[in-house]
Amino acid sequence: MAITIAPLHQHFVGSVTGIDICRPLTRSEVAELEAGMDRYGVLVFHGQPLTDEQQCAFSRNFGELEVTLAGQMAKPEHRRFGDRLELGDISNLSGNDGALRARDDHRRMYALANQLWHSDASFRAIGAGYTLLHGRVIPSRGGNTEFADMRAAYHALDDAMKAEVEDLICEHSIVFSREQIGWRVDSETDADKLKPVRHRLVITHPVTGRRSLYLSSHIGGIVGWPVPEARAFIRDLTEHATQREFVYSHAWQVNDLVMWDNRTVMHRARRFRDLKEVRDLRRTSIKGVGLEVPVLAAAE
Ligand code: OGA
Ligand code: MN
Repeated sequence: MAITIAPLHQHFVGSVTGIDICRPLTRSEVAELEAGMDRYGVLVFHGQPLTDEQQCAFSRNFGELEVTLAGQMAKPEHRRFGDRLELGDISNLSGNDGALRARDDHRRMYALANQLWHSDASFRAIGAGYTLLHGRVIPSRGGNTEFADMRAAYHALDDAMKAEVEDLICEHSIVFSREQIGWRVDSETDADKLKPVRHRLVITHPVTGRRSLYLSSHIGGIVGWPVPEARAFIRDLTEHATQREFVYSHAWQVNDLVMWDNRTVMHRARRFRDLKEVRDLRRTSIKGVGLEVPVLAAAE
């Protein structure tokens, strides 16, 4: 079986066939998929009935697994996958009995911010590299995941704008994204996890050398700028970067696995009738090499 990757969009996103990712991969298969990620930023696999264990094993081919902030904060009685903390619960389920979360469940409030365009874990000193999402239960309508190509968005800026953003440094915190939907992050959360971290707005991919905009709803400021000016600017840039021309919308099928590079694309969840229907996706994420470029020296 030979791996084939076919483009699903004019700028990015590839659909992968000719591989069974439920079983162990060879080094050369991993290398081919990594090359596909470098080129396409998002890879889509259909018909992959992964177990939790197999999803973790497949993900480990690409680096060290991370535990999400939501996973770290989850009370033990809310953990649907027991001790498997590296598996993120991207569902609207309350527990393992099939009941949906209540309308005002704080986990639901927290997850609603996934509907804002973002890069995973950009509020960490080293954000996520790849994220992998696997579809287990899909609602009958809505609930797509959308991706926007931040390389194409950067490339489309005019020269004056490219010069303006070149050295900007943004401040990211989970507090800023939740604030946008009127949700105050639990005050019990470790203050350390809420402290803004700094990242360059323009990043260079460590493998391809291509530049992209490292945008995210977690951004709440630009170093040296008044906050309102920074937020208006970031909002404007996000609007530019998420024009339909740069966007692919993934309509989920059961047993799809979609993986993306957070250094190359932004993404968001779309709404669905989450009080009536189940949506159960499982997430793994890999630490982002190349996002640890020191920015403190350039600031202030
Ligand atoms: C995530 C995320 C989008 C979705 O899991 O990080 O943003 O469509 N999910 O659920
Ligand atoms: Mn996300």
